[in-house]
Amino acid sequence: MTEFGFHTTSDEAAAALKDAIAGKTILVTGVSPNSLGSDTARAILAQKPAKLLIASRAADKLQDVIKSLDIPQGSIVQPIVLDLSSLEATRKAAAEVINSVTVLDAMICTAGVMAVPSFEKSKDGIEMQFAVNHLGHFLFINLLMEKLLASELRTVVTYSSEAQSRANLSFLDDLSYNEGKEYEKWTAYSNSKACDVLLSVGLVQHFGQRGLRSFSVDPGVIVTTGLTRSVPMEDFKALGWIDDNGNLNSAIKAKSLAEGSSAGIIAAFDSRLSNEDGYYLADGVLTREALLPGAVDSAEAEKLWRISEALTKQAV
Ligand SMILES: NC(=O)c1ccc[n+]([C@@H]2O[C@H](COP(=O)([O-])OP(=O)(O)OC[C@H]3O[C@@H](n4cnc5c(N)ncnc54)[C@H](OP(=O)(O)O)[C@@H]3O)[C@@H](O)[C@H]2O)c1
Repeated sequence: MTEFGFHTTSDEAAAALKDAIAGKTILVTGVSPNSLGSDTARAILAQKPAKLLIASRAADKLQDVIKSLDIPQGSIVQPIVLDLSSLEATRKAAAEVINSVTVLDAMICTAGVMAVPSFEKSKDGIEMQFAVNHLGHFLFINLLMEKLLASELRTVVTYSSEAQSRANLSFLDDLSYNEGKEYEKWTAYSNSKACDVLLSVGLVQHFGQRGLRSFSVDPGVIVTTGLTRSVPMEDFKALGWIDDNGNLNSAIKAKSLAEGSSAGIIAAFDSRLSNEDGYYLADGVLTREALLPGAVDSAEAEKLWRISEALTKQAV
């Protein structure tokens, strides 16, 4: 069986795992042109799923992605407009999915925002990075849980980042960062990415006995996606990521789009992976290296779960 690593591409991973993909119903969030989600969708589609649902907030971007896809005979692609910054819109999108599928084998949740420049609230009054990266996905996944549990694969993948290692989980005691006065955009991003790992832990704590598996992935550094759009170049210079000419620091080992998006495909479809061995993958393998210990702590996961239930008024 294939071993996966830093340079494994989405096409290589999907081809190696084709038996798990063919004929399945799969949902990917965060599908816009040039995103990790769109490359994930493209590579999965080549292995003939029965149905691929692609979700993002902009209907026109979803149509652009669909136009770029090579849809095999027998596979159906369905766009789902999903705005994770609104609980109401997330419920609407989940209802659309529920009406469109009998089962849902795997969800690969790549949608996210990074380093929102100043303190911003979602439509529900919740700090934006936590709202989009964690809370919207918490609600969306839980609304689709019965479809997941009725499926063969029963797998959820969340997209984290090595940024989780710099999280400070005390923010769970004040999600508003003292009403924005203590908001620091990179810490808020790190915190939301630790929540991605904690969500995988929480999902297994709540539904593992019913066969649910969940993994969180660090895709690596991919500089060609839309993620950095709200980050001024000066910030990357100050962080030492790029030099004055805009060249990437040679110490940063960047990945291609396809190397980055293999992460979620491996996590979703490699049946050798077990939550008994971990929750977090980097470079295609389960690891605890560079993982904030609190991000896989069962009590922290339960604390986040209870907070998320209260905020979404979704008892699960
Ligand atoms: N690229 C990297 O180096 C890197 C590294 C570590 C982790 N990650 C993680 O990988 C994931 C994918 O990132 P990416 O690099 O592919 O970035 P991207 O190109 O910006 O893709 C993010 C996707 O999320 C969507 N999105 C943003 N806000 C949303 C909302 N309110 N509701 C629904 N969808 C929303 C975006 O839609 P729009 O196009 O409309 O904005 C886009 O489709 C993120 O979770 C990110 O944290 C990326």
